[in-house]
Amino acid sequence: MKIEIESTLISEAEIQRRVRELGQQISEDHHNRELVLVCVLKGAALFFADLFRALSIPVRCEFIQLASYDDRTESSGHVRIVQGLNENLRNSDVVIVEDIVDTGQTLTVLMEEIQALEPASVKVCSLLDKPTRRTVTATIDYVGFEIPDAFVVGYGLDYAQKYRNLREIFCIKT
Ligand code: XMP
Ligand code: MG
Repeated sequence: MKIEIESTLISEAEIQRRVRELGQQISEDHHNRELVLVCVLKGAALFFADLFRALSIPVRCEFIQLASYDDRTESSGHVRIVQGLNENLRNSDVVIVEDIVDTGQTLTVLMEEIQALEPASVKVCSLLDKPTRRTVTATIDYVGFEIPDAFVVGYGLDYAQKYRNLREIFCIKT
């Protein structure tokens, strides 16, 4: 299937400004706490790298890899853990860093996985939120941008593993 990049949805400057704001807010909310940022691979990797550097407090990082899409723009409905967490999260404040919350199914699996490690608290930070697509309830504590129901690529987000390296977020036509 050939895809076409349709239009810029969020510019590089807008992304960078919002990431700085989120970094400030997360730093204020976790002052004097034992904070761990969990990056959900691969989509959140670029956002994570910028957000992590926007924090002004001591923080650890962890990586988890999930898969829910098989090179398609519709969720397969199956969320699989490809690589789990190694770190002891007990008594830490965890902030899960996601690229996008769509149906909410990935987040549900992620929450269960992380709650089982008995952290002191778990919050969610997602760069993008597509609230109209939700099929399960999902609480997002820090949202970068609310977006309409369009498939987007760039700044970590892919279509069939490509376009992650674009600096802006684009809508695509499939
Ligand atoms: P769910 O439906 O579980 O989906 O909330 C979350 C995961 O689905 C992927 N996703 C997208 N990836 N452009 C993408 O590149 C999109 O528009 C999009 N919508 C959902 C993404 O991997 C996310 O973690
Ligand atoms: Mg993806």
